[in-house]
Amino acid sequence: MATHDNLKEAFAGESQANRKYLAFAKKADADGFPQVAKLFRAAAEAETVHAHAHLRAMGGIKSTEQNLQEAVEGESYEFKSMYPPFLQEAQQEKNKQAEISFKFALDVEEIHHDLYQKALTSVKAGSDLPEKKIYICEICGNTVYDEAPEKCPICNAPRAKFKEVK
Ligand code: FE2
Ligand code: FE2
Ligand code: FE2
Repeated sequence: MATHDNLKEAFAGESQANRKYLAFAKKADADGFPQVAKLFRAAAEAETVHAHAHLRAMGGIKSTEQNLQEAVEGESYEFKSMYPPFLQEAQQEKNKQAEISFKFALDVEEIHHDLYQKALTSVKAGSDLPEKKIYICEICGNTVYDEAPEKCPICNAPRAKFKEVK
C-alpha cells in the first residue's frame, strides 16, 4: 500500500528535519543570528507536528505497553545488530568522530533497552514507574535515575554536563 510506505518515508523525513533544524538553530545562535535560530526552532516544532500526524495516520502509536515493547525491540536492535558493525567499519576507515559517535550511542542504547524493559515489566503489572529524577548526559546521551554521577561512566564528562529531564 503506497500510502503506508509514503507515511513511513514522510515520518522519517520530518523527524530528521526536526533534529537537523534544532542543530542548525544552535549553530545560528552561536554564529550570532538569534532570529534565524528562532525560525529554525519554529520550523523544527512544525516538523514535529507533521511527523506526529504521519505516525498517528499509520497507526504507529499504540498502548503504552505495546509502545514500550516496540521501544525495547528498537533499542535491542540498535545495540546488538546495528551499531556493532557500524562501529567496526568506522574503526576500519579510521573515522574517529564517527567511531566515538557510534560507541556512545551503542552503550547508551543498551542502557535504554534495560530501562525500557523495567518500565515494560512495571506497566504489564499495571503500575507506573516509581517517581524519580532522571538525568541525561549532554555529551553521550547516557540516561540515569536519581542523581547525576560525578563523572559520566560512558564518556567521562563531569556532572555539570548532565541535565535533568522533566
Ligand atoms: Fe514538514
Ligand atoms: Fe536509545
Ligand atoms: Fe556521557
